[in-house]
Amino acid sequence: MVITVATDKGGSGKTTIAINLAAMLALSGDNVLVIDADPQASCSVFGNIRSEAGIEPIFSLISKTGPSLGDEIKRLKKLYDAIVIDTGGRDSVETRKALLGSDIVIIPVVPSQLDIAVFESMIRRFEEAKDFNESLQAIVVVSKAAPNPFLDKEVKLAREFVLALEKDGIFLSRGTLFERQIYKKAIFEGMSISEMPDGAKASSDFGIFFEDVLTLGQSLIKGR
Ligand SMILES: Nc1ncnc2c1ncn2[C@@H]1O[C@H](COP(=O)(O)OP(=O)(O)OP(=O)(O)O)[C@@H](O)[C@H]1O
Ligand SMILES: [Mg+2]
Repeated sequence: MVITVATDKGGSGKTTIAINLAAMLALSGDNVLVIDADPQASCSVFGNIRSEAGIEPIFSLISKTGPSLGDEIKRLKKLYDAIVIDTGGRDSVETRKALLGSDIVIIPVVPSQLDIAVFESMIRRFEEAKDFNESLQAIVVVSKAAPNPFLDKEVKLAREFVLALEKDGIFLSRGTLFERQIYKKAIFEGMSISEMPDGAKASSDFGIFFEDVLTLGQSLIKGR
């Protein structure tokens, strides 16, 4: 299973999602590889913090940019149960190669910075990739949502906006990833939220999204 996290919107939580998704997959027993396909190399920074803190890795992590990413995905997917690819916040050769080689693309949407034009262009890119990679599926997830109940309306509006665009191959996750300090704290310590002693609330939100990814992944495997 190859899963790419992508959207043109910078700072929407792609790297945070890639690392925590990879960690949950690894903790559930999968042999996982994270490919850092962002020239900014945020996942690699996470790996280095973890290594310097003397914490054992739970997934493999490599950095790969440039057009050969496509060939690397084809070769590496035979060696791992799951590959999670983190991309940069823009249209790039890496994002296009990653979409062509993936089973699932995760598209984070931040309610407070909901940018309809950006979201629609990401959906167009997904559909273009689907012309060459028919089985590609997209999961949209609401990311960095304000946990403040007064801002609940913003989350509701974002969900309604995505639901209206749901069509063949595009699903909105039932899970909403709320803005919680623990995500930042964990990354600074080289940890995933699942490994943090005070990560229960975030892990519970993330767990619902994780289940949706697993369910979709299993349906794709059955359909082969
Ligand atoms: N659910 C969350 N709660 C709180 N902070 C978050 C959450 N998700 C991400 N962040 C923080 O928001 C910032 C941007 O997140 P992240 O680096 O994951 O985004 P990105 O989409 O990968 O950004 P870029 O486009 O630069 O690659 C980081 O400081 C991260 O710690
Ligand atoms: Mg990033």
